[in-house]
Amino acid sequence: MGSLPTDAGTKVILIDQGLPAGGVTALAIDPRQPERAWLLVALGVGLLAVVAWGAAVRPTKTVPSATRLSLSPLDPGQVARGRQVYLQNCAVCHGANAQGAANWQKPDARGNLPPPPHDDHGHTWRHGDRELAEIIRNGLRDVFNKTPELTMPPFKDRLSDEEIAAVIAYFKSLWSPEHRRYQEEQTQRPVMATPGSGQ
Ligand code: HEC
Repeated sequence: MGSLPTDAGTKVILIDQGLPAGGVTALAIDPRQPERAWLLVALGVGLLAVVAWGAAVRPTKTVPSATRLSLSPLDPGQVARGRQVYLQNCAVCHGANAQGAANWQKPDARGNLPPPPHDDHGHTWRHGDRELAEIIRNGLRDVFNKTPELTMPPFKDRLSDEEIAAVIAYFKSLWSPEHRRYQEEQTQRPVMATPGSGQ
């Protein structure tokens, strides 16, 4: 936009390009104000260009990412094993179907956050595989909890890496494709400077 053409210049350019008159006559041109008329023409052409550009761009944008990237398949055997491990070690706090404690979003009487769900309603799917394994191995305490102990107990002495991986696979089987995709992206992210820092 180094040298903006004057109105007269614009007029010449537009005429040279032989613009379709039909498209612009709808913009009532007042013969007493020719400059204004050409401004309207320019606006109209600009609008058409934007609409055409939008139509051209749209098809690639409306394809939901869900259909573009395929998720890595889950191993049904591992999921079943994970559910077993879950029922034996985790269900007592997180619920038989990983639905979490009642009122899990509100601190309990001691001022600590109760066990959250692991299905789509919770936020387990926000953590990548490495982070989840770390939480299960080492336990967790929300920074805003009022008591100092880990409310999520560590399992490193009770569960093998395979069992922990199986529980994580079981959790994945509970998530929507969108949450699974988000979680896979977290898993593929390089290690961050502050592991376990949540979302
Ligand atoms: C004694 C109760 C208890 C048991 C048993 C327990 N958890 Fe937890 N878990 C919690 C609590 C409470 C939290 C929330 C901690 C917090 O945020 O302060 C939690 C949090 C978690 C989180 C973090 C979720 C998130 O979105 O941040 C994961 C993952 C988790 N538990 C997995 C497990 C697995 C897997 C097992 C079984 C191997 C298990 N838990 C057993 C109480 C328990």
